[in-house]
Amino acid sequence: MSQERVAAAPTDSKSLAAPEHIKTIEPYIPGKPIDDLVRELGLDPAAVVKLASNENPLGMPESAKRAIEQALAGLGRYPDPGGYALKQVISKRLDVPAQWITLGNGSNDILELVGMALLQPGASAVYSQYAFVVYRLATQARGARHIVVSAKDFGHDLDAMFAAIEADTRLVFIANPNNPTGTFLSEQAVTRFLERVKDEFGSRVTVVLDEAYNEYLAAEIRIDSVALVKRFDNLVVSRSFSKAYGLAGLRVGFGLSQPPLTDLLARVRQPFNVNALAQAAAMAAFQDDAFLARSAQINEAGKQQLQAAFDRLGLTYVPSFANFVLVQVGDASAVNQALLKRGVIVRPVGADGLPQWLRISIGLPEENETLIRALAQVLGKEAA
Ligand SMILES: Cc1ncc(COP(=O)(O)O)c(C=O)c1O
Repeated sequence: MSQERVAAAPTDSKSLAAPEHIKTIEPYIPGKPIDDLVRELGLDPAAVVKLASNENPLGMPESAKRAIEQALAGLGRYPDPGGYALKQVISKRLDVPAQWITLGNGSNDILELVGMALLQPGASAVYSQYAFVVYRLATQARGARHIVVSAKDFGHDLDAMFAAIEADTRLVFIANPNNPTGTFLSEQAVTRFLERVKDEFGSRVTVVLDEAYNEYLAAEIRIDSVALVKRFDNLVVSRSFSKAYGLAGLRVGFGLSQPPLTDLLARVRQPFNVNALAQAAAMAAFQDDAFLARSAQINEAGKQQLQAAFDRLGLTYVPSFANFVLVQVGDASAVNQALLKRGVIVRPVGADGLPQWLRISIGLPEENETLIRALAQVLGKEAA
């Protein structure tokens, strides 16, 4: 090959011959890892409190640890590509056929798979302002158009979302509860929306009901989303093992949908997308009712603790249905920096269009207390 034909080496990703919609993706900003803060500020790792990624403050269940220990011996082999045993457990517990289940590398994977299966340039996806950021990423990665609908009281405005559906719309994302705002839509509101979409558009528009925080809801208000999947063939419900089940580091979640949609997702899924340890741990955690109850209980107590403290500090917050609280602190970027110096990691949400707000994950009582004291100090108020 002659020298002349060798192009100059690219200096950044923008100069590569990649599609414009990939080059313009605004990357996901994860919660700051504890190790980064320790390195940057020379803090004692044991003194750092991380309330930034909506993780379970109890860690992973003992039942899952035992399952992982047993699964270690089999790691020389590929995991079960179909996740047979885990699907059986989910199927029995939720009373849904195993063939309706798609396992994901986190529920994030399910969101991506739906995007991959249904979106393309020339199609659009509808989602709410302040909704989970991955809806934007999954839409843009496919070169599809974003239809972002203004939020109502920090939550989804389902009437406006219905009205926003256009001829090229293939997907609507709904987070319930939503991240980062913690808002919740009732069963009645979600059912009505699904009925309207199905009546008007048949199966041309698929709805994703993302229930990553479902297990934190009080039983009285929890939506029977399994019944909804049985009723609507254009619905995918996604669930996560990262939150109430305490397995965020393993990456495992699942989707529920009727066979035609499940078949589409299987076509774009990596054959071994859920690793063997994750499958084993998820099976144990899904049956560990005591751990789940403890997760919900500690979360509820922590939520009361944080919200009561925000009331005392005179701070506005969005009453939460999840494992975090969105609170208004003024210059959130500056407050975040000051909290980091005190060893407290929370999540600024300026990139979500909420520059005055911080999203604070609910921790153990003492972690919440550390946050409350640090926040009071930073804001120049009494913690009381
Ligand atoms: C609303 C929502 N959906 C999905 C996810 C993805 O979680 P995971 O991939 O860990 O299951 C998250 C994670 O924070 C979330 O907040």
